[in-house]
Amino acid sequence: MSTGLKPETEFGKVIRDRHSVRKYDPSWVISNEEIQEILNEAILAPSSSNLQPWRFIVITDPEVKAKLLPVANNQQQVVDASATIAVLGDVHAYENADVIYESAIAKGIMPSDLGLAMAKRSREGYSSMPDQKRKEIALIDGGLVSMQLMLAAKARGYDTVPMGGFNPAAFRELFQIPERYETVMLIALGKAAVEGHPTVRLPLESVVQWNSFEG
Ligand SMILES: Cc1cc2nc3c(=O)[nH]c(=O)nc-3n(C[C@H](O)[C@H](O)[C@H](O)COP(=O)(O)O)c2cc1C
Repeated sequence: MSTGLKPETEFGKVIRDRHSVRKYDPSWVISNEEIQEILNEAILAPSSSNLQPWRFIVITDPEVKAKLLPVANNQQQVVDASATIAVLGDVHAYENADVIYESAIAKGIMPSDLGLAMAKRSREGYSSMPDQKRKEIALIDGGLVSMQLMLAAKARGYDTVPMGGFNPAAFRELFQIPERYETVMLIALGKAAVEGHPTVRLPLESVVQWNSFEG
């Protein structure tokens, strides 16, 4: 059923106008407050059992950016963008289940017995999962929050580029990342100096099948 929404809503425009930008104005500063606002919108993303495994390192210090540059395959946007945000995923996010559900109970969003049951179920369910499964969940949820971050930034007139082109081991070493965190991606965030170029998409009919899947 149609929702009646027109495709050219402001949100539709944000989606269509987002392109990966690789050339940034190096003099442009985005205030910490505005970066926090973008992150606050990003973390409204959904996550498995609402465990919110995402963690972020916001890199704005030129010295730290310079150290990151060789780790990120010398991609210049890492230093020229106002910030490079590293998205991490906590493989042990279930340890926060009590904090999260108790907060939902305290806010009156969830009845106490349901909240406590959900917390127990999350704690027990996730702690008994194989590590590999929890890593996959952290990466999936990390991808969702990353996309939301990029759209939140675009809605404010900024641009981004997601980056998988970095050396995860060297990144871990640089920031002394404990093993429980997966590295999801880096995202450069800033003011475009050169617009991102349009990219093509496979036609919808080649990526969508209805009601069955034939590979
Ligand atoms: C997980 C992931 C990793 C990526 N890594 C890089 C990267 O390291 N460097 C880069 O310039 N672009 C990178 N990209 C950007 C893609 O090249 C880009 O999203 C794609 O070509 C589509 O273009 P668009 O983002 O402008 O729509 C990455 C994108 C994703 C989703």
